[in-house]
Amino acid sequence: MILLLKIITHIQKLKERWLFKMNLKIIVAISENNVIGINNKIPWRIPEDMKRFKELTTGHPVIMGSKTYLSIPEKFRPLPDRKNIILSKKLEPQNGIYIAKNIEEALSFTENEDSFVIGGSQIYEEFLPRANFLEITKVHETFDGDSFFPEINWNDWKKIYEKRQKSEKGLEFSFQTFKRNL
Ligand SMILES: NC(=O)c1ccc[n+]([C@@H]2O[C@H](COP(=O)([O-])OP(=O)(O)OC[C@H]3O[C@@H](n4cnc5c(N)ncnc54)[C@H](OP(=O)(O)O)[C@@H]3O)[C@@H](O)[C@H]2O)c1
Repeated sequence: MILLLKIITHIQKLKERWLFKMNLKIIVAISENNVIGINNKIPWRIPEDMKRFKELTTGHPVIMGSKTYLSIPEKFRPLPDRKNIILSKKLEPQNGIYIAKNIEEALSFTENEDSFVIGGSQIYEEFLPRANFLEITKVHETFDGDSFFPEINWNDWKKIYEKRQKSEKGLEFSFQTFKRNL
């Protein structure tokens, strides 16, 4: 019986590794009180974070919800040098972006390339079970907000990188990378 359980666990882990052969990374900035947005905007401005976001995501597909897409100023969207995959049941197909009507369609557009889930709240919640990395910018302050990062079971994740710093405007934040425990 114990041997059978061990074999089943092993097969499950192999299956997960196979599923995760493409890295799916969540990238998000979160305040100390778990806020990620207010009035469809990010409540802080940290140029260092924007720079890191660009560095990490450039060259990769980025998956986002329609509200996050529409929150990007028109002159900056679609995000350049990245395949922009927008989840929406309402938006019409447009040049330069891929509209996905569900999670599976969004993932199929990635063509198994390492990809980033870039928000917002709804999309983080839906993709969290499938993500194997979290790129978090922890903003060490509390903010008013109406959009939050979903609850996480931290036992599933291992911190593999952390760097704390202060923005040019004096806001303290940390870049943190977590990898899912297999
Ligand atoms: N701090 C950060 O790092 C960060 C990053 C990104 C965003 N944000 C913030 O997050 C907030 C927005 O989050 P949100 O949860 O309100 O909106 P969202 O996740 O950006 O978009 C939600 C929309 O996505 C579409 N959608 C969601 N699941 C879908 C599915 N399974 N199939 C098809 N379409 C689907 C629906 O669009 P339709 O209604 O068009 O069908 C839905 O209304 C904003 O405040 C934004 O500033 C923060």
